Amino acid sequence: MYRPFRWGEYHVTMGIRSMQWGEWIELDDQYNSYHRIRKDRVERKGEKVVQVLSPLTRVRDDGEPVHIGGGAAAAIELVHELAEYLSRRYPMTFEITRHPLMADYPAGWGGATPIKSSEKIDIQREGAEAMRIAGLLIQDDLALMIEGSDGGYYFMAGAIIVPGFWRMEDKIGMNMQQIHMSGNVPQYEEKLQLSLERFFRRLAVDKPVVRNNYFVQISPPPSDTPSIDPDELAWGENVLGSEDEYGGTKGSSFGSPPVLVVTPQTLRLRTERQTLRRLPRSGAIAFTVRTYLVPVEELAQEPGIAARFASAVRSWPEGVREYKGERRYGEVLVRYLDEMAGREKEEAEVKPYPY
Ligand code: HEM
Repeated sequence: MYRPFRWGEYHVTMGIRSMQWGEWIELDDQYNSYHRIRKDRVERKGEKVVQVLSPLTRVRDDGEPVHIGGGAAAAIELVHELAEYLSRRYPMTFEITRHPLMADYPAGWGGATPIKSSEKIDIQREGAEAMRIAGLLIQDDLALMIEGSDGGYYFMAGAIIVPGFWRMEDKIGMNMQQIHMSGNVPQYEEKLQLSLERFFRRLAVDKPVVRNNYFVQISPPPSDTPSIDPDELAWGENVLGSEDEYGGTKGSSFGSPPVLVVTPQTLRLRTERQTLRRLPRSGAIAFTVRTYLVPVEELAQEPGIAARFASAVRSWPEGVREYKGERRYGEVLVRYLDEMAGREKEEAEVKPYPY
């Protein structure tokens, strides 16, 4: 469980920690419900959720051309990495078949012959096929970042299937600065940009990292109507309106404004566990995003959590309030958390971040 909010003052930082290899991808008892949602989205939305770009040249504002390699080679490498990893880490769940001889693809882990795909891969669309398979193997969304001739990192391939509050079509092909600035990420230019760019250029193959973030999502209260995605994991319809009519940025107008009345029952902690690692062959950076949605009413039952969550929400500076959409739920949330915290009798044990 991840509860990555802190007591006291709020600081915008990269927030990265080193990652153990055995923790790259975590699967859990929500695998089946996530898989149902993800498979349905891939079938219905196609290129909107899985995309691999071809090589491209962009002209910068100063007139300089920037060449960026395509995402296909990295996508194919990523699906092989996942298959090598998952079959070792979760051997009861994943089984692999290898080519009998060194086939058309380089060796697998430890010099083994390469893994064979069980699906017939269409060569023309190989990169996108690899990305689609990768996105359906795990619960995480995936983005591949390729270094351009200007040293920037560009989002050239992805399986962004359940992002909740942004769409791949609005960000694909952008570099790190464009991705974050177009989303009005608070203090990005002042506090994050330089260190992030340096971090991306220097990230070593054997030094993977992990980070956690959190938001508050308004989702419909529990209902008897059957739905594949009752909490709106895939898209925050009750925060941003219809996904198809979304204008691409949070401030933009949307077709069907959310109408749900905010009560504690409608509030969820939306928290992401993200990992970053450099793939050894293509040099691309693989970014994984696993999202957890926890009803606030459940969260507030956990020892010490209501008080700490309330303290964190109170500490958000104005820009962060705006970015996290606090205006719509802040009062209801903090009042509820204070009340729940007041009922706790004992001091809770303090567990290390990110719990
Ligand atoms: C160390 C690496 C990174 C850091 C420190 C970082 C930092 C941030 C921060 C601070 C936010 C605001 C929400 C939050 O608190 O997480 C954010 C949002 C976001 N990040 Fe990153 N990021 C990183 C890597 C990436 C990568 C590789 C992608 C590639 C797709 C990406 C895509 C986004 C998107 C799409 C958003 C949402 C923007 C919006 O609201 O429109 N980030 N990032």
